[in-house]
Amino acid sequence: MNRYSRITGWGMYVPERRLTNFDLEQMVDTSDKWIVERTGIRERRIVGPGETTRTMAVAAARQALAVANLSPRDLDLIIVATSSPDHLLPTVATQIQADLGAEGVPAFALVAGCTGFVYGLVTAHQFIVAGTYERVLVIGAETISKAVNWEDRTTCVLFGDGAGAVVVEATQTPGGMLAFELGADGTQWDVLMIPAGGVAHPPDHEMIDKKLYTIRMHGRAVFRFATQVMTEATRHVITQAGLTPEDISLLIPHQANLRIIEYAAKKLGFPMDKVMVNIDRYGNTSAASIPIALVEALEQGRIRPGDNIVMVGFGAGLTWGALVWHWQPVVPETEAILVEDWPLPQALQAGLRQVRSRAWNARVALSEKATLALLPLYTWTHKLRKSVSRRFR
Ligand code: UT7
Repeated sequence: MNRYSRITGWGMYVPERRLTNFDLEQMVDTSDKWIVERTGIRERRIVGPGETTRTMAVAAARQALAVANLSPRDLDLIIVATSSPDHLLPTVATQIQADLGAEGVPAFALVAGCTGFVYGLVTAHQFIVAGTYERVLVIGAETISKAVNWEDRTTCVLFGDGAGAVVVEATQTPGGMLAFELGADGTQWDVLMIPAGGVAHPPDHEMIDKKLYTIRMHGRAVFRFATQVMTEATRHVITQAGLTPEDISLLIPHQANLRIIEYAAKKLGFPMDKVMVNIDRYGNTSAASIPIALVEALEQGRIRPGDNIVMVGFGAGLTWGALVWHWQPVVPETEAILVEDWPLPQALQAGLRQVRSRAWNARVALSEKATLALLPLYTWTHKLRKSVSRRFR
């Protein structure tokens, strides 16, 4: 019998404290206008006293377990995606396990920057379809505010804190993860990094004086990378699933910059009403951004049984990841198995989907080639316009 994964529980937590663009105007040389125009962010949440990655993750996980109607001891595995753990050692995952009361359940953290949740969900899916585990808790949680230099306007306006979690369970109902792609380009490891505090540069006075324990980012390089991989990875997974953008009801992108999201949506032919955006309220919460957006989309009724959704992320590493998830209808398992027993309509449907998907892919490839072919013409008309306007100035 085939095994599939199904998301049965979800939860999120964001701190109470709001930091608005107007607050930031008092702290660094910036403006609400610049931040909104360049990023789409209006405010972000910042941890209060006693709040950490661990406490936020536990709050989100408890909600997810309640929705799934499971007790922590029912879990087979806990995966925590984070780049801002409470301690370098031990892993924050075991602290979360203890706080939840999930005694004995294996737990680990993975670091894949803002792509961490996508890496985590794919990992959970692998354990489930392999038949190893039945129930996996996947958390994305970050306290990036503690890793930010609050005097550096190029980074401090971007990030926020929060956590999101899902419970993934084994099922015989077809659906769940239809396709995924994970990727990394380690040659660009240094465009988004924390220079010191690890073994390459252990804590010392220089680290404190120069604030080398905070995030350094080459924003434009990450921007270029993000627009490219988000578009390509999304296109790949949709094709791999045998679908077209019309079959996708919601795109849930990593919330790093509204301009990146709009660029990718336009390239892919997604109208913005099919794109989940909450960056205005939370900023970039790194590995927590996709699960938080997923939870809000579910709460707003934007995901219904039978829908195909895409989650896509990119981040430090540099890494990227995308996946297509089919939201299974909540039907008794036996009904779903009956549907599986009709091979002809299913095979026909799959064939038709493949044909549509190939046609869409060919159309996108053609439009890219046409753009490239017309590039010299654009450059020439641009130069011509410039020289004409100079002559008549
Ligand atoms: O999760 C992954 C993490 N990171 C990202 O996804 C970041 C991707 N990159 C970005 O989102 C954008 O590159 C930023 C939002 C970081 C920056 O936007 P940009 O349009 O690429 O701006 P820029 O870096 O090219 O800077 C333009 C100008 C510069 O001034 P000059 O050199 O032209 O005089 C900056 O100094 O804007 C200045 N600037 C600011 N001005 C006001 C940079 N930050 C600020 C600021 N307020 N906060």
